[in-house]
Amino acid sequence: MEKNKVYLNGAYLPLCDAKISVLDRGFLFGDGVYEVIPCYKGDFFEFDAHIERLKNSLVGIKLDYARTTEQWRQLLEPLIDNTRNQYIYLHITRGVAAKRDHAFPKGITPTVFAMCNDIVTVKNRELGIKGVSLDDNRWHLCNLKSTALLANVLLKQQAMENNNSEAILIKDGYVTEGAASNLFALINGVLTTPPLTNDILPGITREVILKIAKANHIKVVEQEISMEALKKAEEIWLVSSTREILAVVELDGIKVAEGKVGQLWHTINTLFQNYKHQSNE
Ligand SMILES: Cc1ncc(COP(=O)(O)O)c(C=O)c1O
Repeated sequence: MEKNKVYLNGAYLPLCDAKISVLDRGFLFGDGVYEVIPCYKGDFFEFDAHIERLKNSLVGIKLDYARTTEQWRQLLEPLIDNTRNQYIYLHITRGVAAKRDHAFPKGITPTVFAMCNDIVTVKNRELGIKGVSLDDNRWHLCNLKSTALLANVLLKQQAMENNNSEAILIKDGYVTEGAASNLFALINGVLTTPPLTNDILPGITREVILKIAKANHIKVVEQEISMEALKKAEEIWLVSSTREILAVVELDGIKVAEGKVGQLWHTINTLFQNYKHQSNE
């Protein structure tokens, strides 16, 4: 497939030719869901888990679009350049309505869009990043990977305008996740991540880290983390498919522990890289 081709509603075409109607409910209401799936030199990473989450998101927004994992694989594979580390962005909206109306229109066809982009390698990963805690002002269905991301966008922007790489979101005194990542913290020697609730996205990277930690006898728990506990954490990480595992070395302008990437980060990051390579063999 030629470079820069995208998929839109059954066709593979150049990005500049991919057009949707202004009456698409994704455009009007953010009425859709999406996935971001890494693909390392032609091999999808945790493909089944990503598609499973997509199916849950579709059910969660009552969008009937049943496709098997294999059908998704066949649809997405032609977009990939197998010489590069990339990610697929897959986006499904409820479709184009005859007029703007909040209620679901009957008999419309969902819009399906997918594109592939290079994963930008995080520079100086070993130096860690700065994070800022902000009030989690999002809605109550953060477990769904909805395209309606305005709250996340504003939170991330606020973080970046103050020279932080990510917003760490706090709800009722407890950490939920990052604006575009899940959170782990090393608290009193125990690797801890908030449990799966409607307040967080069930991250695929989070799941892989839990699996790796357990397999390597690293003590890990899924437990609520108070802001007080976070402030005293020995390590804090933010994790996601495209940025993998990033250590937060400064929180709200104060050093996390020594202000350096911690020992457990090094261990888990190495195990994660090994897991990635093994699952691509
Ligand atoms: C709000 C939010 N939480 C968590 C994640 C991490 O999810 P994953 O590891 O599946 O990329 C993301 C990823 O973009 C996200 O947007």
